[in-house]
Amino acid sequence: MTAKAVLAYSGGLDTSVAIGWIAEQTGAEVIALAVDVGQGGEDLDTIKARALACGAASAEVVDARDEFAAEYCMPALAANALYMDRYPLVSALSRPVIVKHLARVARETGASLVAHGCTGKGNDQVRFEAGLAALAPEVKVFAPVRDSGMTRDKSIAFAEEKGLPISVTSRSPYSIDQNVWGRSCETGHLEDIWNAPQPDVYGYTDDPALGRPAEEIVISFEHGLPVALDGEARTPLQMITDLNRIAGAHGIGRIDMVEDRLVGIKSREIYEAPGAMVLITAHSELESVCVERDLARFKRQAEQRWTELVYDGLWYSPLKQALDAFMTQASANVTGDVRLTLHAGRAVVTGRRSPAALYDYSLATYDSGDTFDQQLAKGFVELWGLPSKIAADRDRKLAG
Ligand code: ARG
Repeated sequence: MTAKAVLAYSGGLDTSVAIGWIAEQTGAEVIALAVDVGQGGEDLDTIKARALACGAASAEVVDARDEFAAEYCMPALAANALYMDRYPLVSALSRPVIVKHLARVARETGASLVAHGCTGKGNDQVRFEAGLAALAPEVKVFAPVRDSGMTRDKSIAFAEEKGLPISVTSRSPYSIDQNVWGRSCETGHLEDIWNAPQPDVYGYTDDPALGRPAEEIVISFEHGLPVALDGEARTPLQMITDLNRIAGAHGIGRIDMVEDRLVGIKSREIYEAPGAMVLITAHSELESVCVERDLARFKRQAEQRWTELVYDGLWYSPLKQALDAFMTQASANVTGDVRLTLHAGRAVVTGRRSPAALYDYSLATYDSGDTFDQQLAKGFVELWGLPSKIAADRDRKLAG
């Protein structure tokens, strides 16, 4: 029986060439799997037809947009996930859902190989393979670009030699990866970190300097999940998609950074995540109203750990799963509305209200109606400073 290989297929030059390349190198027949995580562009039928035309034995396309939004983007929102305080994990979130479908198709077809088009220099290879180690430890992984020298030049030569129905000239100078949570763009002129991004790197946002009039929105949350926009119910996918459009028009969510990859390289990245950045801004604001102080302080540490685990490809690790349970518990009271003004590249919170607020007007006010007993503060402050006072007395004595 011929061995089978499931390939994570995007429809682009590299993975189209990989179909024939893998067949030649391994003797396996190739099953192309394309997973729609909201990357836009060509429709799935076109991608499927191309895979078959490039020699795939079969091709499967999966619309995973709702699943991706609900089960991958929403947990990232619960963790207010921003790697290096800035990057909302766009690409890092999509790999685990692709891995889940690769593992499923491998199981269903009895494939012994799984293949991906990543290079050996990036994080995505780690995310694919660490994910597969958890979900399909029995399969072997083959990465033609990394493992068998399938360089750009060789890909183009292979495509021309075999007459593959794929354009080799219309390639963008950038390496772009996009999904519903955002868009990443690297390489080209961006590799000189002094170069300002050219306008053609952007795809999800308009120029924030365009001068669009400010716009006000209200996002409603229930137990940490965004459920309505301006009072109208939304699924997670609808919410993110709508906010990408609305906030993207104001140029919100552009990020230009030099990032620490897991493999040790620093790289220049341009991200756009208008919906994600608005949601994280609103969500963390509501948390500051509804989450008790110690829980909030601890959650910030847990958020950072969650984010680094996911960035580093450990979505399916025990610690990440346990932290998810913590995030769910910590979100129990995060219910209410946040009002924001969108303008000139910024989403600014202007109001919050919640039936579960810990903010207490009668304790906070400096006007009449104050119920806070200021006399209680005096003794508290004395005791609070007592350890420092004792230590300072000792130091003075010893310095004598
Ligand atoms: N550096 C980012 C990350 O590791 C983006 C990777 C994007 N991938 C790509 N093939 N362009 O999450």
